[in-house]
Amino acid sequence: MEILTGNNILAGLDSYFKDNGYDNLYIITDHNVKYYHGKYLSSLLKGYNYKFYSIPPGEKSKSIDVVLSIYDDLIENQIDRESLIIAFGGGVVGDITGFVAATFKRGIDYIQIPTTLLAQVDSSIGGKVGIDYKGLKNIIGSFHFPKLILIDIQLLKTLSNRDITSGLAEILKYGLIADYDLFNYISSNLSKAYNKDEHFLLDLVNKSISIKQDIVSRDKFDKGERRILNFGHTVGHSIESYFDFSQYNHGEAVILGMIYESYIGKEVGLIDDDYFWEIYNSLTKLITPLKFNDLEIKYLLEIMENDKKKLNDQTILILPIGKGKVGIFNDVDVDLIINSLKGEWF
Ligand SMILES: NC(=O)c1ccc[n+]([C@@H]2O[C@H](COP(=O)([O-])OP(=O)(O)OC[C@H]3O[C@@H](n4cnc5c(N)ncnc54)[C@H](O)[C@@H]3O)[C@@H](O)[C@H]2O)c1
Ligand SMILES: [Zn+2]
Repeated sequence: MEILTGNNILAGLDSYFKDNGYDNLYIITDHNVKYYHGKYLSSLLKGYNYKFYSIPPGEKSKSIDVVLSIYDDLIENQIDRESLIIAFGGGVVGDITGFVAATFKRGIDYIQIPTTLLAQVDSSIGGKVGIDYKGLKNIIGSFHFPKLILIDIQLLKTLSNRDITSGLAEILKYGLIADYDLFNYISSNLSKAYNKDEHFLLDLVNKSISIKQDIVSRDKFDKGERRILNFGHTVGHSIESYFDFSQYNHGEAVILGMIYESYIGKEVGLIDDDYFWEIYNSLTKLITPLKFNDLEIKYLLEIMENDKKKLNDQTILILPIGKGKVGIFNDVDVDLIINSLKGEWF
């Protein structure tokens, strides 16, 4: 698996197809990405056989119905194992495309061209592919590693501020789990991210990929250490799901999750007050935390309980244990989670 990062490197895509003998291309994208960047991609594909399949934007598209409609179209277009499938979009397009490529004809080569910051630093890396089902996120899926991940910063120019925040969330997470300097570097340069400073974004992308690759290489199939990548996600997922995936995007919910989970870390005595408030002050520049009431907390805990089944019947929380370090815990007192979510402490 090859990863290429840079600014304006999409232009060189053609030579990759030539070198690897692909001339039948099937591009899966969403309507927004097609609108902003479809023409440019088409202009690079002159002389190839290619077809676009565009899905409605958003998490709701990560469904079995959309997968079935893509299978129908693949059959209709006689896509075979000599063809190449291309994911051209954010994490939704990447996850669904990877899943289709993993399953159609028992696996077809695919490449990722991620177009959101979140997809460039996180979802396109690591081989996890899948879809949601019955309201359960990523419940059906597999591991299928793309042949190439081509990351072009230029594609981020059309991204909304909320989607920049979403990507920053995962990068701030890498900082808190593995590189505290990176965390500080982002917090003190937020405007560069929102202004889409190319050098800054490319630097963040390269640093993020190297952290994620490092963790994934030690635990390719998510049996142990890879779980530290879920920092902020136990609570974050429950918030995302409680609001029916509409109020907060993934990264925004993860930022909230990191705030509440860090507070738990402080209460357990894993980190000191000063470090906690450093984290709090940096993360609240991006999202304002909420004070949840008793009923809301009951639902949030139920959602976490459901997640628990997935994880060998234990509620797993990733908590900070020092600057740029986290640990995996399965014995956290539920009252600590409740107090954290009540938010009487801020
Ligand atoms: N596989 C993994 O390891 C992994 C890791 C993290 C997240 N994920 C998944 O990723 C998904 C979230 O990804 P996401 O945040 O990229 O969401 P997304 O794919 O929904 O993209 C967010 C929005 O940005 C738009 N968009 C995409 N590229 C654009 C561009 N260049 N310019 C303008 N608009 C653009 C999309 O149309 C969409 O409206 C979730 O489903 C999550 O489960 C997967
Ligand atoms: Zn995430």
